[in-house]
Amino acid sequence: MQNRHVLITGGTGGLGMGVTPTVLAQGVAAVTIPFRQPKEMERLQSILPAGDLAKTRFVETDLLDESAVEQLVNGMERVDVLIHLVGGFSMGATHEYSFEQWQRDIDLNLNAAFLVCKYSLRRMLKTGYGRIVTLGSRAAVQPGGQLAAYSASKAGLVALTQAIADETKGTQITANVVLPSVIDTPSNRTSMGEAEADKWVKPESLAQVICFLASKAAQDLRGAVVPVYGSI
Ligand SMILES: NC(=O)c1ccc[n+]([C@@H]2O[C@H](COP(=O)([O-])OP(=O)(O)OC[C@H]3O[C@@H](n4cnc5c(N)ncnc54)[C@H](OP(=O)(O)O)[C@@H]3O)[C@@H](O)[C@H]2O)c1
Repeated sequence: MQNRHVLITGGTGGLGMGVTPTVLAQGVAAVTIPFRQPKEMERLQSILPAGDLAKTRFVETDLLDESAVEQLVNGMERVDVLIHLVGGFSMGATHEYSFEQWQRDIDLNLNAAFLVCKYSLRRMLKTGYGRIVTLGSRAAVQPGGQLAAYSASKAGLVALTQAIADETKGTQITANVVLPSVIDTPSNRTSMGEAEADKWVKPESLAQVICFLASKAAQDLRGAVVPVYGSI
């Protein structure tokens, strides 16, 4: 990813705290990170060395606002790499699930990805180079009870990513999706306890997989659905 311009959505989140420093360590030219909560941005800023901080641009953006996404993407010098980490977990029995929550899940896990991919692709198609890496979940391919909205929205993200991979055949643009099981983030430790935490996937470990998919070397990987399950 040497000298690449990288857009990392969700770069300030639990996984982003591992992915963003790893991406910056690849010798990239610049990283753009949309954020909503200043506290999360400050948490990431506090762990980045000054040199990396100087290469990182934080832009307050709601990725569900189409014109804001267009502005974010067009504000970048180039868009060589999109690492789309935004997403979120929810659960509940289908017969009790509210339609509002269902729509929020589709927004968070699928609609935001569509908008970011749409505008990033326009920039990539102009330069003829691009890497898109999206973050699904094991639930996309192994849907379980209480997980209809989460599984369906993540399965939609897999389909979106594979459709893009197909549309960009014959170019130097690729799109692939990573499916984690459970990630070892502070919020998972709080909500699930720490007893099984050593079996979960570390953000830094996922970051290595993501960085490979985002690299020039992964030029022949298209539409791959990559399971990263750790030991569970
Ligand atoms: N954690 C797990 O165990 C696990 C397992 C499987 C898959 N995954 C997937 O891995 C990805 C990262 O998970 P995570 O644990 O890092 O999640 P997280 O800590 O909740 O981070 C989500 C990030 O998305 C951002 N975001 C959400 N909605 C946004 C919007 N409308 N506009 C702009 N930014 C928005 C959040 O920013 P703000 O905080 O500023 O709102 C935050 O930075 C997600 O796609 C998730 O579904 C996670």
